[in-house]
Amino acid sequence: MGGKLSLIASELSPRMGSDVKISKADLVGGAHAKEIRALLDQRGVLLFRGIAPEDRELRAIARTLGDLRIGGVKRGADGKVLNEGEEGVLKVSLDEKVNPDYARFLIGNHLWHMDGTYEEIPPLATLFTPFKLSKTGGDTMFANTYAAFEDLPGEEKAAFEKLNVVHMMQAGLFPAKRNCTVEEFAVWASYPPRSYPLVWHHRSGRKSLVLSTSAAYVEDMHPAESHDLLQRLIAHATQDKYVYRHKWQMGDLVMWDNTGAMHRVLPFDRESGREFHRCTLNGEEPITAAA
Ligand SMILES: [Fe+2]
Repeated sequence: MGGKLSLIASELSPRMGSDVKISKADLVGGAHAKEIRALLDQRGVLLFRGIAPEDRELRAIARTLGDLRIGGVKRGADGKVLNEGEEGVLKVSLDEKVNPDYARFLIGNHLWHMDGTYEEIPPLATLFTPFKLSKTGGDTMFANTYAAFEDLPGEEKAAFEKLNVVHMMQAGLFPAKRNCTVEEFAVWASYPPRSYPLVWHHRSGRKSLVLSTSAAYVEDMHPAESHDLLQRLIAHATQDKYVYRHKWQMGDLVMWDNTGAMHRVLPFDRESGREFHRCTLNGEEPITAAA
């Protein structure tokens, strides 16, 4: 807590998101890094207006908060590594010239998801700042999966804590591109499935639902029941009361806790050149169930 002043933060919605007032210099210098980490855990989404970080500043801010992800992390059957940015900054764009590795996967971003549900330890958090916005659409929505768990009836909480869910890339991407080619589907299917507990017992002692469009099925459950349960839980967790919808302005820096939130982007003009720069913080704990 090296800074002189405490953070000034106001709620963006009752159960999700805070607007934080801090100078760019303090943010880059890490003056309030511990407070920001704690607030991120509590509020899920943090908004810093008017920061407009350059890439080197975005990296510096990320490094004050955690372990910045560098380079490629995932490889599909087509041999392509999904590169998160050799310099730690990924350009998020639908334009394959801007983002040759990732653009084809970004269609799935329109559906509620967590990032990195193909990894043993999903990313901790994302830092996101716009470089070009679409004139229409493109708001990002965030849903608090801690709050969604907290509000479930006690008997459901207990039952869900015993369940495991298999996550698959094709489950995340096929609903976003039903007219995919067989080859595209084969690439998605080449990413290994992951089984995670439905309820994450975080080291902090808090619990969240692990939900995402990548959630394909509940293990050891009839497919019909599994389908209905996952659909119901996504609908539950994305009710307005758990959601913050962010309307972007140039200069914004938004960070979100990928371990306790889902997110999605609303449709926007594909020809707009919409582009964001992103830093990812590596995860710090695996998704574990109750001991
Ligand atoms: Fe995402």
